[in-house]
Amino acid sequence: MEEYNSRRHPSEKIIFDSMNRDYKTVLQHVEGVLDGETDLTANLANVAAILKEMPGYFWVGFYLVKGDELVLGPFQGPVACTRIGYGKGVCGTAWKDGKSVLVPDVDRFPGHIACNSNSKSELVVPIFDGTGKVAMVLDADSDTLDSFHEEDRQALEKVASLISGTLVSE
Ligand code: SME
Repeated sequence: MEEYNSRRHPSEKIIFDSMNRDYKTVLQHVEGVLDGETDLTANLANVAAILKEMPGYFWVGFYLVKGDELVLGPFQGPVACTRIGYGKGVCGTAWKDGKSVLVPDVDRFPGHIACNSNSKSELVVPIFDGTGKVAMVLDADSDTLDSFHEEDRQALEKVASLISGTLVSE
């Protein structure tokens, strides 16, 4: 995982630390909506809706690998960029490297793609198909700096793994 340093005002730490992201419940809900359902659009839409309930999630959704680009999939939040090239931005980097990218301050990530100027920090997790290739990425944006940490990465990687499990038979 790559990490990019941020400068954070002490007051923002207090705001973040007061957030309680109940990932145990999130993962139960995700397992619930995926159970017995193989339709990809339906599953990604429901997972985005579940994650959007988390405090500090300003935008959350999926970009799907289509040819040499990522194309916007189901999401919750403001209108977003439709296409992202391989290796471009945080999403394209997670796709290219096949690993999660945690960005505490998007202004300090070279090549960050600003779909919305309110996004301040970001976490992108790749989702693999049955052959080990990246099929899509899960992108979470916050409107506060340094909003995502190791706990968030681990939780979103578990979500990614659950979604991967639904792709095997596709
Ligand atoms: N910031 C992302 C683009 C997607 S939006 O945040 C929804 C990036 O740099 O890849």
